[in-house]
Amino acid sequence: MSARVTASVYTSHVPAIGAAIDLGKAGEPYWQKVFCGYDFSRQWMKENTPDVVFLVYNDHANAFSLEVIPTFAIGTAASFEIADEGWGPRPVPTVQGHPELASHIAQSVIQDDFDLTIVNRMAVDHGLTVPLSLMCGQVQSWPFAVIPFAVNVVQYPVPSGRRCYRLGQAIRRAVESFDRPLRVQVWGTGGMSHQLQGPRAGLINREFDLDFLDRLVADPEALSAMPHVDYVREAGSEGIELVMWLIARGAMDDAAGGKPPRVAHRFYHVPASNTAVGHLILENPR
Ligand code: DHB
Ligand code: FE
Repeated sequence: MSARVTASVYTSHVPAIGAAIDLGKAGEPYWQKVFCGYDFSRQWMKENTPDVVFLVYNDHANAFSLEVIPTFAIGTAASFEIADEGWGPRPVPTVQGHPELASHIAQSVIQDDFDLTIVNRMAVDHGLTVPLSLMCGQVQSWPFAVIPFAVNVVQYPVPSGRRCYRLGQAIRRAVESFDRPLRVQVWGTGGMSHQLQGPRAGLINREFDLDFLDRLVADPEALSAMPHVDYVREAGSEGIELVMWLIARGAMDDAAGGKPPRVAHRFYHVPASNTAVGHLILENPR
């Protein structure tokens, strides 16, 4: 029995969400409207706990400075420290990796012509830890191994949506050729519409976001053709983080000619900090 992609999860990674959890503010009315969208998800995670989460996220100049900017970086270490983003590391468990599967994916995907950067030591920032907190709550240890997969969406040129979708397909091929019966989820994080800087700071585009969710479910191949300039114009400068969702979507059954996924959960809420929060859980048919 080989490993298998069982589901994909998509979620925003707003750092203020992590602060709200860590400071015990999750029950306050402002935050309750955000967290209620994840009540289902935490229960779903308990019932569908994977062995490994392949977690696609972006580093925000914490692990990588502007001196070295890998386009795609796969974490192959046994564990990953929590980054200090300027106010101390978040009080969450250290992330345990899966060196065997990560190395296998690196081997397979690089031979499949995607040039990954192999990272044997890396601190992980809010881009990775906030999705874990949203999906698992406050825990003593994360209930699965995590393979961090960092994508450059900070410094242009960033990878195209098309390349991200194709990479997801290659990751799926890699997972399904790993000779152990692991249940693997692929998560795509970041977004949705937000702009943190310049004259358009605070930009939110609900119509774009809802359409993106629809198209991500129904026609990701067509969505993957959308150029960067459309993301930035419609979803703001940081809305470009959404290209990472296409990596997770490309790893689903239907992107390899199989059946379409089941939408287990969908949530959208504005605001969380300066950002529109979007969330999807897609399950592959058994
Ligand atoms: C913020 C930062 C992010 O990285 C993000 O994706 C959304 C919001 C922020 O600083 O509010
Ligand atoms: Fe971000």
